[in-house]
Amino acid sequence: MSSRAPLAVIIVAAGRGERAGAGRPKQFRPVAGVSLLARSIAAMAAACPQADILCVIGEDDRAAYDQALTELAPDWAGRLLEPVAGGPTRQASVRNGMEALAQAPEPPSYVLIHDAARPFVPPDLVARILAQTEATGAAVPGTPLVDTVKRVAADGRVLDTPVRAELSAVQTPQGFGFAPLLDAHRLAFAAGRDDLTDDAAVAEWAGMVVHVVEGAPENVKITRPEDFEAAERRLSPAPRMRGETRVGLGYDVHAFEPGDAVILGGVAIPHEFALSGHSDADVVLHAITDAVLGAIADGDIGDHFPPSDPQWKGASSDRFLAFAVDRVRARGGRLVHVDATVVCEAPRIGPHRDAMRQSIAAICGLPVGRVAVKATTSERLGFTGRREGVAAQAVATVLLPEEADPTEDA
Ligand code: CTP
Ligand code: MG
Repeated sequence: MSSRAPLAVIIVAAGRGERAGAGRPKQFRPVAGVSLLARSIAAMAAACPQADILCVIGEDDRAAYDQALTELAPDWAGRLLEPVAGGPTRQASVRNGMEALAQAPEPPSYVLIHDAARPFVPPDLVARILAQTEATGAAVPGTPLVDTVKRVAADGRVLDTPVRAELSAVQTPQGFGFAPLLDAHRLAFAAGRDDLTDDAAVAEWAGMVVHVVEGAPENVKITRPEDFEAAERRLSPAPRMRGETRVGLGYDVHAFEPGDAVILGGVAIPHEFALSGHSDADVVLHAITDAVLGAIADGDIGDHFPPSDPQWKGASSDRFLAFAVDRVRARGGRLVHVDATVVCEAPRIGPHRDAMRQSIAAICGLPVGRVAVKATTSERLGFTGRREGVAAQAVATVLLPEEADPTEDA
């Protein structure tokens, strides 16, 4: 693999959002506090960890774009190329993005084109698109149609009824070999075609073969005001659950032993020692696991995974945490937030903080904005100060369905 990523992602965000109304382009409007653009960037950055990401934005939207970036975890913002200006149509905006990527010393081998207006694209859909693109050169996600579709004349007269089983409603991201799609866009432009509403249509027009892979119903294109309302409802924390909030506390310590890396929050961090323990000795995940179990008063990690049981020897601690989160779900509840503090003189946690947050978020099924990781030394005092080991503390916040009046408990 070259030093440059062989994959680039273009996120088109230069539309005016006229159908959504509300006076500013929809991609800069928030859903549950985070703009569609920041959500789309984060989703694609997480699904394509090696890719460069290029946003295409309106000429006057630089300030709104910069504002949207402030909503992202810093390491994601760092993966973005300098944005380029869009054009009057989506097709023109994509072409501008493609031409910008073509200027790079080593253009990418593949490109995924994604609408900023589709913030909920799931990672497995992106993986399917990538696999099919690498296999056959062009892939789009599609979902089967529920309604029968008619072609209709301007006066309302039905022209004909396409066979529904042959129809697919296609979404983004759409994946292509970079060079063939660039050629297709250039040819379409030279031929005066500017009415093609997705990149597959540009590719098809140029004679490329495009395959449809399974899309996802939640990968909606936010288009009208009611789409914002539906998205808001979907992301609000258990809006109509009559529930109660519980907070659990966890604490763990592991000692250093000879080795060359420690595992903290599911992330291997190079170090002059390892941590000693029966499992992988991930103090951070152990503290969070106990915090989650604590929030539902369901014993502790040692009750569920006894250190005396040989099956947990060397076990990867994400299993413990995933188990605890499942216990919350089994009670009809939801984990909504995790906050951990690591106490050690070394290794330095700061450079790994965001990787740890992402790892913990993935294990817990939480957005990364609901996971905090902090670190401190103990000023050379005590066992952590003497560099004998690492300690971690955590709290977890859980929403549980309301039970009988707690004052009635024995
Ligand atoms: N888009 C673009 N440049 C354009 C038109 C659209 O980059 N000239 C982008 C939009 O920002 C959006 C995606 O293409 O992320 C899909 O377009 P659409 O949902 O139609 O968005 P808008 O054109 O902004 O909305 P509307 O058609 O309601 O004005
Ligand atoms: Mg449009």
